[in-house]
Amino acid sequence: MAAVTDDTITSEVQARYSNAASPRMVELMTKLVQHLHDYAREVQLTREEWLAALDFLIRCGKMSDDKRNEMMLLSDVLGLSMLTVMIDQKVPAGATPNTVEGPFFIAGSPELPMGGDMRFGAPGKLSFMQGRVTDMNGKPIAGALIDAWQADQNGLYECQVGASDAYLRAKFRTDADGRYCVTTVEPCHYSIPIDGPVGELVAATGISHERPAHIHATVQAPGYQTLITHIFRGGADYIDSDAVYGVRPELIIFFEDHEPGMTPAGTISTEPFSTVTFDVVLAPAVAQKLAAE
Ligand code: BEZ
Ligand code: FE
Repeated sequence: MAAVTDDTITSEVQARYSNAASPRMVELMTKLVQHLHDYAREVQLTREEWLAALDFLIRCGKMSDDKRNEMMLLSDVLGLSMLTVMIDQKVPAGATPNTVEGPFFIAGSPELPMGGDMRFGAPGKLSFMQGRVTDMNGKPIAGALIDAWQADQNGLYECQVGASDAYLRAKFRTDADGRYCVTTVEPCHYSIPIDGPVGELVAATGISHERPAHIHATVQAPGYQTLITHIFRGGADYIDSDAVYGVRPELIIFFEDHEPGMTPAGTISTEPFSTVTFDVVLAPAVAQKLAAE
């Protein structure tokens, strides 16, 4: 092989990656090389900028552990997480769309009965999220598993308040009519973590670091595509500038305020409360591939 030149280095590098056994690996690596090299050429990347970028990635990695994923956060603020959702987690029109999972999901939440209270002492305005889970023909899906999690009124998740037990997270099952009901607090907006390298990027570029008020949920049922989504509070601050681009029009839902009295969970509240109805439509498992085509 003759020495590479700046005109030939891209095809030389791609040729080496073209020998991988997996065709998908060949595609992923040769395209990555193409776009990385094009980027470097287009911006005329300097040595200092390249070293700074490597140092930034090293520090993102060092800051990450099983509770904090700075690399994921970087992907989120670059819009890459949401783009991947839109490419790979497409659903047919009429089904509830997916959005980013975010870094605060904790597996193994306790399962509560219909209307169960997942506040576990968290501060915030009493609120109820309720609705039905159906298929795309409106048929109720009984026994669907809803795993919900959210931040408290101060915008803090379980790992951020240092709670030792479940805090604002629980699982619920739909009844024979596909219905579910969750007792919780009204969500409020919060900032993504900005005490690490991604925070430096936020400071250097002035990009949005706020997320509009939302509740996360996954919904699973045999034979259906697993849904990973949120509801966003209608009228919430930052709804048009979500730091991680997760808002989808179908997921914006207005909460309704109520005076003290009977709640959707069948309890009597002596304080005002709010309710939100989030009806979920699951796509059949086979639709995942069809929607992507
Ligand atoms: C979240 O919604 O929990 C979240 C998503 C992406 C980055 C930070 C937080
Ligand atoms: Fe969140």
